[in-house]
Amino acid sequence: KSYKIAVVNGDGIGAEIVPAGVSVLDAVAKKHDFKIEKESFPFGAGYYRDHGKFMSDNAIETLKQFDAIYFGAVGLPEIDDTLPAKDYTFKVRTELNQYVNYRPVKLFSGLKSPLRTKTEADIDFVVVRENNEGEFVQSGKTFYADQAHGFATDTSVFTRYGIERIAHYSFKLARKRRSKVTNVTKSNTLINSLAYWDRVIEEVSKEYPDVEFNKMYIDNASASFVLRPEVFDVIITTNLFGDILSDLGGAIMGSLGLGGSGNINPEKDFPSMFEPIHGSAPDIAGQDIANPIGQIWSAAIMLDHLGETEAAKDIVAGIEATTAEGNLTVDLGGSASTSQIADRVIKYIEST
Ligand code: NAI
Ligand code: MG
Repeated sequence: KSYKIAVVNGDGIGAEIVPAGVSVLDAVAKKHDFKIEKESFPFGAGYYRDHGKFMSDNAIETLKQFDAIYFGAVGLPEIDDTLPAKDYTFKVRTELNQYVNYRPVKLFSGLKSPLRTKTEADIDFVVVRENNEGEFVQSGKTFYADQAHGFATDTSVFTRYGIERIAHYSFKLARKRRSKVTNVTKSNTLINSLAYWDRVIEEVSKEYPDVEFNKMYIDNASASFVLRPEVFDVIITTNLFGDILSDLGGAIMGSLGLGGSGNINPEKDFPSMFEPIHGSAPDIAGQDIANPIGQIWSAAIMLDHLGETEAAKDIVAGIEATTAEGNLTVDLGGSASTSQIADRVIKYIEST
């Protein structure tokens, strides 16, 4: 079997952590007897600097010919940061119908959460972030910006179609886990958009009577991430809330650098895109100190999506072996380099 993977390093630490992740992919492919055919694309803010756009004009059509996209992050301090989402991340996610943003949160062996929970098992849940609409549709306008009566708007869009499909995904996912879905919302104040969101999710929940279902407001959910993370299994939430909560999820795992994710098109009519939850971290780029685990975990999520379940498990076990031994990058209090972490994961894969 062979998989065509589009590799997009993006900007900043992407140039270090994506190659680290690719080396792990190569090792696991060799062991599990499948092939990874890679093609690299230089898209991102660096590309924008040189070409005035974040990706080539035919990029979306080109990406459609791949089985998956393996991505770092986009954004550079010297480039207008209102552009990358519109011209790259949100564009790829919507045009390729990647309506699920799957963001698992769990404690790896040997790692201590800053929360100091009773047992490691206390943190093990998934944030399912609606990825194609909501607050991020970029429909709005800035008026009279330089004047005393200046004002600006951003309109959120929630469609029945969009809510239903993310809800079905979440309930089906819960069935494969601990059968619990928490809808994280703010319908007490966003009384149109999120009240509709709640209503449609509640309707869908009736089709899954075997799955425990409850609702929590985003403010309480944020506190609960810290105070009682064990109450969560599958969280379904909106684009903006999911974006914020997944960074908090990264933090309670021990570092933002640990979070992996998939921008998933469950029907597989287009390729899905796999990237760490964090950004391009320009503050630490070019030093071989970035934590590659979120990027490597994203490779596992990608292989799982492609049906290479055993290889995916192997990568996660390799990450666990690495952290359990105390091989840690600076963000986790260690001194290992980006490449040393990847090498240790590869050594585990090759030796088991
Ligand atoms: P960021 O996630 O890049 O960094 C936040 C903090 O976490 C920084 O101190 C950084 O050094 C640290 N960090 C992040 N990843 C790390 C890793 N793997 N290992 C160790 N430390 C890590 O968020 P920030 O600083 O808000 O944004 C930087 C740029 O990234 C901006 O241009 C932003 O727009 C972009 N961005 C892009 C995303 C994407 O492409 N999906 C997502 C989020 C931000
Ligand atoms: Mg984010």
